[in-house]
Amino acid sequence: MPTPSTVRTPVADTALMDKLVSLCKRRGFVFQSSEIYGGLGAVWDYGPLGVELKNNVKARWWDAMVHARDDIEGLDAAILMHPKVWEASGHVSGFTDPLVDCKHCKNRFRADDPRIKGTPGRPDAQCPVCGSRGTLTEPRLFNLMFKTFMGPVEEQAAVVYLRPETAQGIYVNYLNVLNSSRQKIPFGIAQIGKAFRNEITPGNFIFRTREFEQMEMQFFVRPGTDEEWFERWRVWRMEWYQALGLRPAKLRFHRHGPEELAHYAKAAYDIQYEFPFGWQEIEGIHNRTDFDLSRHQEYSGKKLEYFDQAENRRYIPYIVETSAGADRVALTALVDAYREEEVEGETRVVLGLHPALAPIKAGVFPLVKKDGMPELATEIYHALKRRFPAFYDDSGAIGRRYRRMDEAGTPFCVTVDGETLADRTVTVRERDSMVQERVGLDRLEEYLHDRL
Ligand code: GAP
Repeated sequence: MPTPSTVRTPVADTALMDKLVSLCKRRGFVFQSSEIYGGLGAVWDYGPLGVELKNNVKARWWDAMVHARDDIEGLDAAILMHPKVWEASGHVSGFTDPLVDCKHCKNRFRADDPRIKGTPGRPDAQCPVCGSRGTLTEPRLFNLMFKTFMGPVEEQAAVVYLRPETAQGIYVNYLNVLNSSRQKIPFGIAQIGKAFRNEITPGNFIFRTREFEQMEMQFFVRPGTDEEWFERWRVWRMEWYQALGLRPAKLRFHRHGPEELAHYAKAAYDIQYEFPFGWQEIEGIHNRTDFDLSRHQEYSGKKLEYFDQAENRRYIPYIVETSAGADRVALTALVDAYREEEVEGETRVVLGLHPALAPIKAGVFPLVKKDGMPELATEIYHALKRRFPAFYDDSGAIGRRYRRMDEAGTPFCVTVDGETLADRTVTVRERDSMVQERVGLDRLEEYLHDRL
């Protein structure tokens, strides 16, 4: 079948985030948490398509970091950890934001909120919400970790934290993994899991939330080789994003200046993406030196040194960290993929997701609901679904069914028509080009598999 004779003009986009949020809800990617109760601030739930997308992001990361390499092991550490972990890591004392309160309207702001006029704590300071002057308190430090209690008594001694990063679960297990896996330095440990931060200024949909998932890898190296490994990892991580099909012009590095560096880092790069709300970090690559293991050795009293046989000496390894947010990468993929085109006088909304990330890989349709077409299409659908997520749709005009799959990001649609019954071929339509090809049923699975 020929390419559709249509003009495809990109439609100028003024409010991409609004459109994306609305598409995500309508098509079942992302819902507000506890929506029927009015929602919970900066917490989101993933619907049927969203959970597939996020799982695909995580699977792709796990494949690249763990399965494709011999020098990285996987781990799944618990969210709750001994409270001393967070003292050692510096989070109890240092994971804070300075906050100010308005004594009049009771709103709370970050002290560096650009909407605040004047100096908080002084009479000239003006509340950005109620406009009162002199009602803003002096900045006070507010810890971003969520606290809860372990055991039946809610007392100070029972306080535990929901982890604000997954990394610490890796540090406290590094010797367990080393000893059980027979790895040698240099080697890494990778983990995907939930993290929690009581963010003061969350927002931009799933960009900054209070509950999110991290995909973190800690690479343990000999001191002195850390800078080489840091360079390698930042290049490899950028390549990973490019291989996801993200537009290269929308990706860049941002090197942290001395005032931006986290307390644990000697050097850091962010990989940034240009969102509709500006260039923002999607992943951090950090040279954490021996900070974390030294601190855990000090606070736990357990030796965390490594004996390097080749060098015949003991040392605390240096760590190069790569730390990405699964939700943030999912959002990046959605933003990068969203486009609108003019096709035959109508707007076509397409999520041009990389096939590996697409929640549904193939839509299967009978052209009409008669002449045995639904039966054959159902058979094909079940056969495909054994290999990858597929979707059966027999309702409405065929054009509308294509559009529904386009905005779900489905790379291929398979249509059973009159010819299929005669010659056992189907029409396979590719999402981006809209080109249609006849493919024999006997090679359909292979045809799709090769292109996914
Ligand atoms: N272990 C180092 C660490 O946690 P980070 O720069 O604070 O470093 C790493 O976080 C990544 O985690 C970020 O690049 C982002 O992708 C994700 N992330 C951090 N805070 C987040 C939040 N509130 N909501 C969604 N993702 C977040």
